[in-house]
Amino acid sequence: MVVLGIETSCDETAAAIVRDGREVVSNVVYTQIPLHRPYGGVVPEVASRAHIEKIGEVVKNAMTCPVDAVAVTYGPGLSPALLVGLNAAKGLAKGLGVPLIGINHIEAHLHTPFLFDPADGAGDHAPEESMPALGLAISGGHTAWIDMPEYGRYEILGQTLDDAAGEAFDKAAKMLGLGYPGGPVVDKISKEFLAAPAGDLIPFPKGRPRDGVSALAGLPADLCVSFSGLKTALLRHVQRAGGAEALAAAGEIPRVVASYQEAIVQAVADRTRAALRRGRYRSLVVGGGVSLNSRLRAVLAVVAAKEGVELLLAKPRYCGDNGAMIAGLAFYRRGEAENAMALDVNPSLEVGS
Ligand code: KG4
Ligand code: ZN
Repeated sequence: MVVLGIETSCDETAAAIVRDGREVVSNVVYTQIPLHRPYGGVVPEVASRAHIEKIGEVVKNAMTCPVDAVAVTYGPGLSPALLVGLNAAKGLAKGLGVPLIGINHIEAHLHTPFLFDPADGAGDHAPEESMPALGLAISGGHTAWIDMPEYGRYEILGQTLDDAAGEAFDKAAKMLGLGYPGGPVVDKISKEFLAAPAGDLIPFPKGRPRDGVSALAGLPADLCVSFSGLKTALLRHVQRAGGAEALAAAGEIPRVVASYQEAIVQAVADRTRAALRRGRYRSLVVGGGVSLNSRLRAVLAVVAAKEGVELLLAKPRYCGDNGAMIAGLAFYRRGEAENAMALDVNPSLEVGS
């Protein structure tokens, strides 16, 4: 079964074709990052307009063969952005006379480790052989630990109570004058610092929420994170140093950045370990833009090895938002093809709903 997947939930206009859920036939991603850079974050109206301008070309370039179905992200995400993809997908499905399949963006991120390129052979891991799994969806919009007892079933075990990990990286980079998005530059600076540390890491808070706070909404505190205290600690540190420029002049940016990254990585590692210990998992499935982080990859590898589970990470090109994850997961959802005209966007669509 050959599926065209369309993704426009945030700041990437993307389309891809995937065969039988895993083999990526084509993958086209137009990123809007340069458009949003001047604002230091994603502006919904700018995103929507750029999706409208690019969707036709992106889909055309991805359409390298006939397809049996069209899949599209219908949530969660930015409403005006999601609408562009959904409307395009409806038109295509109707025009081609094929079914439309609506896909949850976060669940799709957890499909990325299973995608493979034909040039690399048949791919090492099939979803069916990797369950039960603990899913970690970690991106600019989401940070959640998800129980996957069998493929296609999802239940949130824990999540961030405020900022997503990627957002925490982006906000820190903005505060320190390092540009947008923050994740890649923080990763690079930290890597250089950690290779030859000039000074000790600053002990920033590791984002453990207090037991019983109402924001937990019934989830256990040891499986949730909160990055607001970390952000405040960084702000205080910058202020005490006399501002970001003074910090830079003192050559302190690398140490501060590496310490901040370490706090996020250790927070994520700690919750992941706790979640793994609560279940009997075969694998740890990780997806989302922040899973590109080199330090996080290394630390999760240690955690997974210690807990006796296989760590399944996506290829770098499938970590950020893309259409292949949408087309791929749709194969496993083919029984749920929707009436094309009845589907609507759901900006706050929940995992497992
Ligand atoms: O998955 P994604 O492309 O979009 C969302 O669904 O949010 O993730 C984007 C996020 C941004 O916050 C970006 O700063 C972060 O992923 N990111 C990274 C790295 N590369 C991208 N964070 C940490 N380390 C990286 N190397
Ligand atoms: Zn995403």
